[in-house]
Amino acid sequence: MNSPFILDTDTVWYAIGDGSLEKSRNRLADFHRVIILVDENTEKFCLPVLLTQVPELASCNLIRVTSGEKNKNIAQSSYIWNELTRLNASRDTLLVNLGGGVLTDSGGFAAATFKRGMRFLNIPTTLLGMVDAAIGGKTGVDFHDFKNQVGLFVNPVGMIAEPLFLKTLEEKQWQSGFAEVIKYALIMDRELWSKLEGNRYAEIVDWNPIIVKSARNKIDIVRFDAMEKGVRKNLNFGHTIGHALESYYLKSFNEITHGMAIAAGMICEAWISSKVFEMECTQLDEIVQLIDANFERLDFERSNIPAIIALMQQDKKMRANKLLFSLLRKIGKASHDIEVDEKLIEESLYFYIDRKKCNQI
Ligand SMILES: NC(=O)c1ccc[n+]([C@@H]2O[C@H](COP(=O)([O-])OP(=O)(O)OC[C@H]3O[C@@H](n4cnc5c(N)ncnc54)[C@H](O)[C@@H]3O)[C@@H](O)[C@H]2O)c1
Ligand SMILES: [Zn+2]
Repeated sequence: MNSPFILDTDTVWYAIGDGSLEKSRNRLADFHRVIILVDENTEKFCLPVLLTQVPELASCNLIRVTSGEKNKNIAQSSYIWNELTRLNASRDTLLVNLGGGVLTDSGGFAAATFKRGMRFLNIPTTLLGMVDAAIGGKTGVDFHDFKNQVGLFVNPVGMIAEPLFLKTLEEKQWQSGFAEVIKYALIMDRELWSKLEGNRYAEIVDWNPIIVKSARNKIDIVRFDAMEKGVRKNLNFGHTIGHALESYYLKSFNEITHGMAIAAGMICEAWISSKVFEMECTQLDEIVQLIDANFERLDFERSNIPAIIALMQQDKKMRANKLLFSLLRKIGKASHDIEVDEKLIEESLYFYIDRKKCNQI
């Protein structure tokens, strides 16, 4: 059995990898009062695992919400505030968010705003949550058609990423989290890239080192730049176009995962990188190849592109009316705050739908 990666900073306690829950047992048992936030899936699949590992939590109150991005909204926050009020939660109460990124985003937001801020701790139960969403203090909910439009930067007191929870995760959720793993490799971790190259997520046997490495990459970045003034923006690679696609599909009946949207966004933004930074064609083709081996292409058409670009204008990554991108200089190295013309964005979406090779456009 591997031992977990433990990091105790001034603000956040991190325990990541196999055995992290067991290692955190005393910490969790020490909180005076704990309320656990679950959705119907994490109540069924993950709560029993948590209570077996930390039996001291067995008598905690639960708050139950309905899963799904469509429910990551202010109505759900309001419901959580109601429940916290009903349960007489105080600022000293700890809210444990047991779930995927939707639940840790919205639970963190509800906790951070309740009575001007109660403590919360994230126990991510999806791959995406473990390597990304539960780390870094971005909390929030979607508003109207826009992703994460309302929210706060507030750190949890702790984050425990125990791969044991992943045993019950659906196939498409593994795939979704894998998009963020690819992102870390592309923006900052050439060594991780060489581990992923040629791989399909479904064939990976030992996830522990991949989870630990990815989560550590994110922790390193957010510790250095908590408020996203500089290098943290590199994490947005694939997300400017990806978020627009996610919002676009959120409005349709054909809901897609965050990772599916980001995978498409990374293809488009890698293409833009090849135009702006002259990233080598062979590298672009390698990137497209790995993403295509793991994700089906989304089915939007040329006529949908203006609506997708319009959604980008709502993105938080704008300056003087220009969209700002994080782009790749090469595999393993990114830069942020790069202004990109709308024309290039449009062409990148053509590159995507037409399944072109790097040197064909
Ligand atoms: N805050 C951040 O920095 C950040 C970063 C990346 C993504 N996000 C957000 O994260 C969200 C996506 O999170 P996600 O991909 O984890 O999806 P999710 O939270 O919707 O979870 C996916 C599904 O899996 C279920 N589930 C969770 N754990 C399970 C388990 N162990 N076994 C069986 N089923 C389980 C959930 O109930 C849900 O139905 C998006 O809203 C995105 O915006 C936030
Ligand atoms: Zn993401």
